[in-house]
Amino acid sequence: MGWNSWNKFACDVNEDLIRQTAAAMLSSGMKDAGYQYVIIDDCWQVDRDSNGNIVADPKHFPSGIKALADYVHSKGLKFGIYSDAGTKTCAGRPGSRGYEFQDARQYAAWGVDYLKYDWCNTSTQDAPSSYEIMRAALDASGRAIVFSICEWGKNKPWLWAKNIGNLWRTTGDIKDRWQGKQEWKPGDCCNYGMTDILDQQDGLESYAGPGHWNDPDMLEVGNGGMTTAEYRAHFSLWAILAAPLIAGNDLRDMTPEIREILTRKEVIAVNQDAAGIQGRRVRKNGDLEVWSKPLQDGSRAVVLFNRGTANGEISVAWENLGYPAHLSARVRDLWDAKDLGEHGGKFSATVGPHAAVMVTVKP
Ligand code: GLA
Repeated sequence: MGWNSWNKFACDVNEDLIRQTAAAMLSSGMKDAGYQYVIIDDCWQVDRDSNGNIVADPKHFPSGIKALADYVHSKGLKFGIYSDAGTKTCAGRPGSRGYEFQDARQYAAWGVDYLKYDWCNTSTQDAPSSYEIMRAALDASGRAIVFSICEWGKNKPWLWAKNIGNLWRTTGDIKDRWQGKQEWKPGDCCNYGMTDILDQQDGLESYAGPGHWNDPDMLEVGNGGMTTAEYRAHFSLWAILAAPLIAGNDLRDMTPEIREILTRKEVIAVNQDAAGIQGRRVRKNGDLEVWSKPLQDGSRAVVLFNRGTANGEISVAWENLGYPAHLSARVRDLWDAKDLGEHGGKFSATVGPHAAVMVTVKP
């Protein structure tokens, strides 16, 4: 769990933003809710010096990356950074190709705890071997650094990345919209709406587990392109997917509704459940869906998800959850923080348009 600069700020990053965000992690309650990593995405780097060392942008990071990492650590948080397996990053900054060990050594010296490693400008590079080189470099650096693989699912990383990275993107970039994919430029597919990303997770659940997660990309909650109900659905679904919860909004300036979504403890507990099982879609009836995640105590978290534009009555039968129909189970609403009593055989709720209801079911 953490925060990353890209979804809201793109290349407009600087040390004041990162410091203020780290401070806001504490004052907003995000740190207490479990968010740990503060990650600068693309555009912090400008060049290499005559020895090949990566150089941070002196205009936007005048105090240097070490001082920034120290500040983030002083708040009890962890610090993350971004590079690329190719010659240049996606924004055209220097990539790590040919400098992997030197860069990893530098990150360790700065106190970096997390590396997101992108896939632009990689020409004919082989993805598994490119990520293996940086894995070896991080190991050799002597510092424990979470390794976030970002090759957009192009080479099916769920099949090979388990022992290389801790998380791997499964799709192209998320955009702050409910639905709809868009080419970056003609012939270069695509960025996706939240529900398009969701659909691409279906079937990948068996590849995820503790220490090696599918990453459906960072959260858009609070960036303004969706309604509060849509953001609550987005957060519920990312929670049930056991997805990395990386906030991507301006933490210095959150409405109470957005803070409430991002810090809802019972929903986060589902995401962080120790069994580490990724939830999956167990039922689909047109626009009405049921997603379920087995929890460590044998109970289930369930999201009733309405993609449609009118209210929908959504039912989940215990058999959809792998329970016998005769069981009686306690149902609790996680957004309303309310016990809904004992139910036999099934549970039903009316779910608003573009919205989700999230419950636990405990036999
Ligand atoms: C790619 C990644 C994004 C972001 C940008 C930065 O598009 O998928 O998450 O890191 O590059 O340029």
